[in-house]
Amino acid sequence: MAGDPLIELRDVNKYFGDLHVLQDIDLTVGKGEVVVVIGPSGSGKSTLCRAINRLETVQSGTILLDGQPLPAEGKELARLRAEVGMVFQSFNLFAHKTVLQNLSLGQVKVRGRKKDDADRRSRELLERVGVADQADKYPAQLSGGQQQRVAIARALAMEPKAMLFDEPTSALDPEMINEVLEVMRQLARDGMTMIVVTHEMGFARSAANRVVFMADGRIVEDRSPDEFFTHPSSERARDFLSKILHH
Ligand SMILES: Nc1ncnc2c1ncn2[C@@H]1O[C@H](COP(=O)(O)OP(=O)(O)O)[C@@H](O)[C@H]1O
Ligand SMILES: [Mg+2]
Repeated sequence: MAGDPLIELRDVNKYFGDLHVLQDIDLTVGKGEVVVVIGPSGSGKSTLCRAINRLETVQSGTILLDGQPLPAEGKELARLRAEVGMVFQSFNLFAHKTVLQNLSLGQVKVRGRKKDDADRRSRELLERVGVADQADKYPAQLSGGQQQRVAIARALAMEPKAMLFDEPTSALDPEMINEVLEVMRQLARDGMTMIVVTHEMGFARSAANRVVFMADGRIVEDRSPDEFFTHPSSERARDFLSKILHH
């Protein structure tokens, strides 16, 4: 069962100009819960993630993290970004820093850790995601799957309360997808609260507590993976599933 609410969106609306990209979004994610978000391209999945991390502002509604409204700016905002780790499709590592430096930097700058302590924690996390032997290399010297695992470790280094993943395996060669999904599965088993935008339906079935289906800026379905995959209630979801499962 899910714990207390950790991420709450209430009646959230966002526009890009005339385009109503998030429409009356209500979503609650409990502590330790894993919510997979799926839906057609352009349905607002990335905007939803970015709004939760306040990379995008919203025009109306409330977004709470652990009961607190999102801070608007300054130090509080930097801390919020650390509390909600985000992993994107593109790995977003600092190209001119080593893997170890990539992990330690934010710990020192945002969390105020001593460099030695940060480095020690960085090495533990690199071990956990299976790339300990890559610590002194630069991102470009790693495979895509390794880089994405480093990006996950870097987010974890900030000790986030929740992790958001926006299509973390979409840019990867097929043989590397599983090594990243396995790290995410382990994270889920360890009790991390996660929102995962993905087209990996195997992951959704095996790791998600709930599947949220979005279309045209709205949440159309929000239910257990088993219910969603066997009895999608909306025409939109049935149509979407038939396209991705039988192509
Ligand atoms: N910065 C932006 N400016 C204007 N329109 C945007 C911007 N970002 C996204 N959009 C539009 O908002 C809609 C939702 O986009 P997005 O959240 O990226 O969808 P998804 O991740 O589901 O593919 C799309 O129509 C997209 O073109
Ligand atoms: Mg997207």
